[in-house]
Amino acid sequence: MARITAGVASSHIPALGVASDLNKTEEAYWAPAFAGYDWTKRWEAEQKPDVVILVYNDHASAFDMKIIPTFAIGCGESYQPADEGWGPRKVPVVEGHPDLAWHIAQSCILDEFDMTIINEMDVDHGLTVPLTMMFGKPEAWPCKVIPLAVNVVTYPPPSGNRCWALGEAIARAVASFPEDLNVQIWGTGGMSHQLQGPRAGLINAEWDNRFLDGLEGDSDALRHIPHIEYLRETGSEGIEMVMWLVMRGALGKATRTLHRHYHVPASNTAVGHIVLEPV
Ligand code: DHB
Ligand code: FE
Repeated sequence: MARITAGVASSHIPALGVASDLNKTEEAYWAPAFAGYDWTKRWEAEQKPDVVILVYNDHASAFDMKIIPTFAIGCGESYQPADEGWGPRKVPVVEGHPDLAWHIAQSCILDEFDMTIINEMDVDHGLTVPLTMMFGKPEAWPCKVIPLAVNVVTYPPPSGNRCWALGEAIARAVASFPEDLNVQIWGTGGMSHQLQGPRAGLINAEWDNRFLDGLEGDSDALRHIPHIEYLRETGSEGIEMVMWLVMRGALGKATRTLHRHYHVPASNTAVGHIVLEPV
């Protein structure tokens, strides 16, 4: 039987991907941001997940104003890194797990979550930067990846409550997959960031750390935070944090924290990262 063994959350700041690609991770500005992932890189090398369900958002790379699915699941064989304006990142191709992805799609849709099924797309920094942060610079990514895209780009994004409930449905789907697989679920994006306008650069470390606190233990208070609070307290792009709640919902009633990291600033935004296991 497939099992969700852990949940990981991380910001997906594109500049972190660039710092890695250009071998700048030891430089004074970047080193403290990357240092918080050293523990996780060692842990992932021991855990050897077979599959990561990677909850992320597309930033107008695969989707544009022509089509914006609220929840979409990648059922393809593989995904190329997207060209985000400077050519595709020179990172490995992302290998999917079509059998598990189709199973999750079927299970969630029959469980009344109307997922969009994607067979072909490129994946942008939202997905590739977390892979870099957790796995470094391997020749090939060490596991299969099921992209799960959430709309947090155009109003209205799904509510935190709906994201949490989708996580619960994903956990039911994984638990009913007959193959013995070590599955992790990752939530990406966040934390505080506003990329444009008079409030650009807004960082609310206190709020971000309370959100990290809320992922720990058995409270489900985070699922009830209204959109307006994310926007007001953490900036317009802070809404990406609802994706962390898909991860948290999939871990069940309670969690234990294995590792936690928070650093500001990186590219005018906050870096947040947590590793949780279900208890
Ligand atoms: C930036 C972009 C993102 O998509 C994000 O989540 C954080 C930061 C940026 O351009 O700096
Ligand atoms: Fe983003």
